[in-house]
Amino acid sequence: MPYYFTLGQVPPKRHIQFRRPDGALYSEEVFGTEGFVGPTSTLYHIHQPTQVTGWKALYSTAPEYVETDTMRMRHLKTMPMRPKGDPVTGRVILFGNSDCEMSVCVPAEPMSYHYKNGMADECIFVHYGSGSVYSIFGTLQFRPKDYIIIPKGTTYQMVFEKASGDSPPNRFLVIETANGSHIIPPPRYLSKKSAQFLEHAPYCERDLRTPQLPLTYDEAGAYEVRIKARNSVHSYIYDYHPLDVVGWDGCYYPYLFNIDDFSPITGKHHMPPPTHQTFEAHNFVICSFCPRMLDWHPQAIPIPYNHSNIDSDEVLYYVEGNYAARKGIEIGSVTLHPQGIPHGPHPGTVEASLGKEWTSELAVMCDTFRPLYPTKAALGLDDPEYPASWKGEHYPKTAGTHHPDGEPKTPARSFTEAVDTSG
Ligand SMILES: [Fe+2]
Repeated sequence: MPYYFTLGQVPPKRHIQFRRPDGALYSEEVFGTEGFVGPTSTLYHIHQPTQVTGWKALYSTAPEYVETDTMRMRHLKTMPMRPKGDPVTGRVILFGNSDCEMSVCVPAEPMSYHYKNGMADECIFVHYGSGSVYSIFGTLQFRPKDYIIIPKGTTYQMVFEKASGDSPPNRFLVIETANGSHIIPPPRYLSKKSAQFLEHAPYCERDLRTPQLPLTYDEAGAYEVRIKARNSVHSYIYDYHPLDVVGWDGCYYPYLFNIDDFSPITGKHHMPPPTHQTFEAHNFVICSFCPRMLDWHPQAIPIPYNHSNIDSDEVLYYVEGNYAARKGIEIGSVTLHPQGIPHGPHPGTVEASLGKEWTSELAVMCDTFRPLYPTKAALGLDDPEYPASWKGEHYPKTAGTHHPDGEPKTPARSFTEAVDTSG
């Protein structure tokens, strides 16, 4: 995070005596990044954070990529994915490389433990569901369309409220770093002198939701913290609740940003993807394509021109709204357009878009500067017709989707009219 925040009790100076009500000292922990020259927070624990009573390796998290030498456009229909696992074990990696991993999770059960990703910053985009992330920095109450940014090393537990009635199952997209870098707001949005969000930025401090109370759990027992490190998840056991922090301060902590609070930048002519940028990390960016007014030149073409991403692979996760530039796109669709071949509007969609003044599209994009590879799970969701879908006017030719775990459980919705400006 670019700015200072504090929650709970902290002493007036760093590294001085700070005592519990019983007279014992709180345990100070400096939570520093980049060798103590990057963003840092300082936490005060009731117990020593070093005390563990057991540890073991549980399972590997190394993704297995397939078709790594195949360059082709892909269209994954993820809506039929069945609930499985918890908000950590249920994550299904679809694409990745040595810089980032993208997964979709439809959790079936709650987490019975706390989790710490010691390898990566996580950007969790909540598609459906509400709940709380309980972390060592406090509580984040999330709702649909929230980005939850959880920096590397944060111990947390993600708890969903039970989906009610006709609500779709809880579901979220995860983009996490695989190269050790951190997910941050684009530096060009920030003042170089104060790190304050500048006037041209599409969001600012008021849009970010910081951790809140409750913060401290002073409870004894046997508590498991699962730690992801070295492409493996380890189980560590603590004899006290891992969220025993009474206070902290600094510039390194999790936060929320709802995509509806992104203020789109519009123009007389088609605006390029960088105007939609929301976050970045080393070798990839995350963008938000939100409902907005369209280009107002009297002869404007509001959907994107054909374009080649010479230096990047482009993944879009479609959240809601209409997409007429791309036929056959559904809620939960994931498209991959690789560097090496141009892409653009489907046949007939340019003419259909003329005169439109508004787009209702909502999508999250991740562009990577190195090729992305699919997993076996991605191939099971992929539509083999998609690469040829620009040739002819009848895509998709076949109805329905397939899934490696079986038949679709939820019928996917299809869009018939729209203006897709995401490209
Ligand atoms: Fe594109």
